[in-house]
Amino acid sequence: MKNIIEIIHADITTLAVDAIVNAANNTLLGGGGVDGAIHRGAGPGLLQECAALQGCETGDAKITGGYGLPARHVIHTVGPVWKDGKHGEPELLGSSYRRCFEVAHQHGLKSIAFPAISAGVYGYPMREAAVIALSAAQSAITLYPELERIIFVQFSEGAQQVYLEAAARLGIMSDQADC
Ligand code: AR6
Repeated sequence: MKNIIEIIHADITTLAVDAIVNAANNTLLGGGGVDGAIHRGAGPGLLQECAALQGCETGDAKITGGYGLPARHVIHTVGPVWKDGKHGEPELLGSSYRRCFEVAHQHGLKSIAFPAISAGVYGYPMREAAVIALSAAQSAITLYPELERIIFVQFSEGAQQVYLEAAARLGIMSDQADC
């Protein structure tokens, strides 16, 4: 049987899946990093739809169309800014992943691709972030049997390696690819 969880090295904006996840900020009005890349790929229609959503709480997620992207939808979530790990960061990051899966389920989506939420500008240590991301995926597989592909997309081979090691520690079978 094909593994549901994939850990790949790619640019998330190139993926033709039901939804890609955006690591956004509370305004949902764009930014740098993966957020900037997604808005550039989608075009101005995305910003217009985001403006009508009136922001997003940290740990929550909201869905839009994919516009000029190959993905049909974008699920925007806001991960926590890392301070020291004692300010609710793990719970908030877990909540971001959970809410993305919930929103995907509510829209009948079968394939979803995630960047490493909070592990860029927001400073979340990649190793800890990977464990939270992969654990959320394990739970989602049980909760939502319709899920066919959960893709963790890393922009660097180093980050991909960190995810692969975390998956091995958690006993998760994953496919890997360099796209
Ligand atoms: N495809 C896949 N991963 C990417 C891509 C891409 N095209 N571009 C960057 N990454 P970040 P955050 C990786 O900083 O930490 C924005 O300004 C990147 O290498 O994009 O949640 C928002 O508006 C890193 O591993 O998101 C917020 O203000 C991961 O994506 C703030 O940044 C996340 O890095 C959110 O910060």
